[in-house]
Amino acid sequence: MADGSIARGSAPWPCFLVPANVCPPYTVGTRILNNPPRHLLQIEGLLPPQIGAMLDLAESYVLLNRSGKTQRDLLRGRTLINLFFEDSTRTRTSFELAGKRLGADVINMSVSTSSVNKGETLLDTAATLNAMHCDLLVVRHDQSGAPALLAQKVDAAVINAGDGTHEHPTQALLDALTIRRRRGALAGLVVAICGDVLHSRVARSNIHLLTTMGSRVRVVGPPTLIPPAVERLGVTVFHDMKAGLEGADIVMALRLQKERMARGLVPSAREFFRFYGLDAAKLAWAKPDALVMHPGPMNRGVEIDSAVADDPVRSLIREQVEMGVAVRMAVLDLLARQARRND
Ligand code: NCD
Repeated sequence: MADGSIARGSAPWPCFLVPANVCPPYTVGTRILNNPPRHLLQIEGLLPPQIGAMLDLAESYVLLNRSGKTQRDLLRGRTLINLFFEDSTRTRTSFELAGKRLGADVINMSVSTSSVNKGETLLDTAATLNAMHCDLLVVRHDQSGAPALLAQKVDAAVINAGDGTHEHPTQALLDALTIRRRRGALAGLVVAICGDVLHSRVARSNIHLLTTMGSRVRVVGPPTLIPPAVERLGVTVFHDMKAGLEGADIVMALRLQKERMARGLVPSAREFFRFYGLDAAKLAWAKPDALVMHPGPMNRGVEIDSAVADDPVRSLIREQVEMGVAVRMAVLDLLARQARRND
């Protein structure tokens, strides 16, 4: 609903999810969602049962993937377009794998090969894709809000795969699934998100998701890399790694996003590593069994030390990648079911 109100007779999916109409109950595991989303543009505004239900559905896809089976009938005859205006390895690949495992026809469009380079506007691209009757549109763009704009212009269900410094909802869902599988629940955990929070859509989506699910979230970094007034999102700010990591259950390192920095916000990568790079000595300040995460791609020796990143016991980084496929299968499944209802 454009005014943020709740669709009559439906579960309160927030406005950005654009519920198309009131639908019959939708069952995920034991939970019931009355009105699944039409698009997935952000985490902000989602409610705990909605997030929990998506994680439950993703959990079933972890088991399916581990069994080596696929479910190709689910999206048979559906077309998924990966529209990436920014570089990506794991996000694009995992959406492609997720779509194929569910039987969709998957097309990858990257900006370097598209007509955008010839001057086509985003809305022209949207009109072109619409004419091709694509069902699911996965969009990554360097401008915050670009997927939301496309969602208004295309018939396809739109999934935000990272927009500027705004949000990266499927990354937060996969991080949450990874944590939940290891720790059993998200509520009550202390999660320290460290480094370049200012430019991180991953941090923003994680802050919304984790605070909604009852985790206590800290952001840790130099003042130049912490967004002003970020406390309003319900997090505690630390500029000192020792204080920020003390008592943490989960330590999430973020990439130093130099490509988004208009000017030097850190003196040097070496200095950043000295004060904020996650190495064994700094990790020792967290709980003895604290687990380490990083969304990738990693700058080893800048925000994280190789020994920590590759620690087979403490690091969840590979597991995050595995969870990424399952979460994206769950999101595609959920949106495609809603689309079928609207057909
Ligand atoms: C992140 C992104 O693109 O926002 N990566 C990802 O999707 N795995 C984080 C980053 O680029 O640093």
